[in-house]
Amino acid sequence: MTNPFYITTPIYYVNARPHLGHAYTSLAADVVCRFNAMRGAETYFLTGTDEHGDKVVRAAKKENISPRVYVDKISGLFKDLWPELNIKYDYFIRTTDPAHIAVVEMMLKKIYDSGDIYFSEYEGLYCFGCERFYTERELVEGKCPDHGTEPEKIKESNYFFKMSRYQDWLIDHIKKNPDFIRPERYKNEVLAFLREPLEDLCISRPKTRLQWGITLPFDNNYVTYVWFDALLNYVSGLGYPDGDLYKKFWPYAQHVVAKDILKPHGIYWPIMLKAAGIPIYKHLNVHGYWNVDQSKMSKSIGNVIEPLQMKDVYGLDAFRFFLMRDMVFGLDSNFSEESFVQRINADLANDLGNLFSRVLAMAHKYFDGIVPDIDSEVEEELQLGLESDALSAIAQFEEAMDGFAFHKAVLSVWEFIGHMNKYVDITAPWVLAKKKSSKKQLEVVIYNLLNGLGIISGLISPVMPDTSAKMRKYLGIEPDMFSGKEVISLDKLKAWRVIKPGTKLLKSITLFPRIDLKKDNFDTSEQAASDLISPAIKPEISMEMFSKVDFRVATVVHAEAIPKAKKLLKLEVDIGEKRTIVAGIAASYTPEELIGKQVIVVVNLKPVKLMGIESNGMVIAAVEEKGCAVSAVDRKVKPGTPVS
Ligand code: ME8
Ligand code: MG
Repeated sequence: MTNPFYITTPIYYVNARPHLGHAYTSLAADVVCRFNAMRGAETYFLTGTDEHGDKVVRAAKKENISPRVYVDKISGLFKDLWPELNIKYDYFIRTTDPAHIAVVEMMLKKIYDSGDIYFSEYEGLYCFGCERFYTERELVEGKCPDHGTEPEKIKESNYFFKMSRYQDWLIDHIKKNPDFIRPERYKNEVLAFLREPLEDLCISRPKTRLQWGITLPFDNNYVTYVWFDALLNYVSGLGYPDGDLYKKFWPYAQHVVAKDILKPHGIYWPIMLKAAGIPIYKHLNVHGYWNVDQSKMSKSIGNVIEPLQMKDVYGLDAFRFFLMRDMVFGLDSNFSEESFVQRINADLANDLGNLFSRVLAMAHKYFDGIVPDIDSEVEEELQLGLESDALSAIAQFEEAMDGFAFHKAVLSVWEFIGHMNKYVDITAPWVLAKKKSSKKQLEVVIYNLLNGLGIISGLISPVMPDTSAKMRKYLGIEPDMFSGKEVISLDKLKAWRVIKPGTKLLKSITLFPRIDLKKDNFDTSEQAASDLISPAIKPEISMEMFSKVDFRVATVVHAEAIPKAKKLLKLEVDIGEKRTIVAGIAASYTPEELIGKQVIVVVNLKPVKLMGIESNGMVIAAVEEKGCAVSAVDRKVKPGTPVS
């Protein structure tokens, strides 16, 4: 029996829209979950949002809405994004869920009653961005290493958790379980930290300073500190303490986080579990940071990578592949569209795509698209190590996936793809096809190639589930179903023969079109054709009719996303008076980049209601298949200026 598998992502703060970094962590969790499904494991995948704290209150204020409305809105953005990226979580937890709050209260009470929480005065350096106190030693030139801002000195009475009591226990636990925190560099970082005496953790905030939090069950004047609330999601999300999911999955818990939150996960969390008498999680898997064009992603630089945009332009599986292939799990990585495109062309279009279409084309040409039967004597002679190459690729893949070394897992598959391409060259099926006497040889070669593709379709399924399904469909392979995921079981792959002779194959296709970065275009004939054809020109109208349309220049004063309406933005515009307009431009513009822009608007259209919002006008924009470009004026003019 395969052990169950439980994987979590951080619950993301709702103070920003999801970006590439969040997508990577959640994708890693999805990939490893699908891999465990290949082993036949029952899997559970938890993600969600972290919704309490100062930051949220401040972000809500900025938008002039209540924290409640604000958290619903941003949490929805995360929840809706994951299915778009084929990230299949089992449960989405929010720290504002009553069931979660009940667990936090219960746990606080339990630890308070056992004497590990005490009341005391504290003065320290506080970073509002991180919502935690920093020691001098942790600061970089007096500034928060994450936010680059100077922390503020704060003095107040608060509740503290006696972490120091468990310091020796934790050091011992980490040493006894060498891959408890992995990769190793992060284990070493935590151990280095534990060489200094551990300070007790401040776990409360006075309500005079913060109300948007969970009230301490033993003191009504305080709410709990963000981490004590957030970390508990990993057990509350399973229905701790009595839930069946908790009983089944908690013993196999693994977390994925980036290095920014190593300390809460590597130190606070195991100590909290120990103090509460809960078994410690199995592994903490820590990855590095995605930077963009060599610098940190930031709104002000304007280099934030939006996952959906990448999906729309390059395709979902290519995006998933690139993220998993390019980042060495544990190290920082740099995202650039150029290297993304290079990878698509080299690894996907060339290595995998060409092999697939070439082999299928040969199977059609020589065997009418029917998988040939094979003669065992000839088979031995023409195996040329292909089966053992596959088996060693599978073994490397399994070991790498198990240790969260996704780039290595992908590499082992591509190594096998390389062997397959070489096998084609060496066996030269087109030569065998010329001689009647080598029919048996040709059968074996084509069978082996088709079967190799079957193995590849199985191995890529965690990273590229759609491509895997497509390949299986063409090769006539029935998938296995584990924990709601379509895969080919590892056991089947290890048995080598995944394709049955006599199976009917579908006609070959292009798995991944090549991308020409210079033309910024896909060179498939389909795309080219649609680019050339513009819609037909509409029937003529009179000047009189046209002059009835009132065009004006409008200044966008506010813009926001509309929950559940991915294409729409709600705009407040100034046309000499304020108007609300709902515009279908969200695929091409973020709210931030529209604010301050002057656009051309039709102001005398009959109002319409979209997603419950009355829209009074229409923004004029050029509309392409890929997205749109809003109209603008050549220089700033007074809002409301007529356009004629
Ligand atoms: O820390 N590269 O939430 P958060 C890679 N609510 N990963 C990145 C990234 C980047 N540039 N930026 C963000 C919190 N991430 C807490 C967690 S858990 C009990 C509470 C990912 O919204 C990465 O997984 O700041 C990182 O750890 C996480 O987002 C931080 O998310
Ligand atoms: Mg953060």
